[in-house]
Amino acid sequence: MRVAVLGGTGNIGIGLSLRLAIAGYDVIVGSRDIQKAKTKVEEYKELLKSKGYRVTIDYAENKEASRLCDLAILAIPFKHAYSLVEDLKNILEEKIVISPIVPMKKNGKSFIYDPPPEGSAAEKIASILENSYVVSAFHTIPAKRFADLDSEFYWDVPICGDDGDAKKTVFKIINNIDGLRPLDAGPLSSSRLVESLTPLLINLSLRNNLRDLSIRFV
Ligand SMILES: NC(=O)c1ccc[n+]([C@@H]2O[C@H](COP(=O)([O-])OP(=O)(O)OC[C@H]3O[C@@H](n4cnc5c(N)ncnc54)[C@H](OP(=O)(O)O)[C@@H]3O)[C@@H](O)[C@H]2O)c1
Repeated sequence: MRVAVLGGTGNIGIGLSLRLAIAGYDVIVGSRDIQKAKTKVEEYKELLKSKGYRVTIDYAENKEASRLCDLAILAIPFKHAYSLVEDLKNILEEKIVISPIVPMKKNGKSFIYDPPPEGSAAEKIASILENSYVVSAFHTIPAKRFADLDSEFYWDVPICGDDGDAKKTVFKIINNIDGLRPLDAGPLSSSRLVESLTPLLINLSLRNNLRDLSIRFV
């Protein structure tokens, strides 16, 4: 399966690209800037080779990556993700699109969840991508530790979505990444519950001098 990580050059995009490639997916790192994507992919390949992995990982501009892929992940800050999917709307038709997007803002010394009027970032994305299968996941994965291939972890990944088959596909993908356990968190409207966990994790980190917090249900 060809998976495009749009914004695969950024914080969470690094870990997603590396770990999906290790899990056996044909990864396409998407970017606005083809040269930036090329440089990043060379780094990823070098790193993966040094760890003994032989993987398929390619790069393209976001539009071409969206065209080439079977499934796209929106590893883009919320402020820019909505306009990007407007542009890619037709190309992403009939494809599964994963939203890890968390809309939040600073409130004094803390972060608060700042959803759009649609209820959550995932629902807003779905309202734009009417003919795609939007599934939300990966919100509570800490980027830095996820990108560190020497790091061992066991994290739960709640998944929200309205299409059963699309959700099953995303479930399988997450199951294929070492250290992640996918959990069905309900319809796409439940994404507001999951997205709002991220500012909580960041506030807990900041106030308690903890790093790379994620979640695990026991
Ligand atoms: N960071 C985390 O720990 C984490 C964890 C879970 C979920 N998330 C979510 O994942 C998403 C990405 O977070 P991030 O921290 O990885 O973001 P980031 O590193 O700040 O940005 C990711 C990529 O977005 C692209 N981008 C930036 N401005 C853009 C614009 N105006 N239009 C189109 N693309 C643009 C850039 O790629 P190019 O320059 O190559 O185009 C950049 O590398 C966010 O929605 C966030 O809520 C983040």
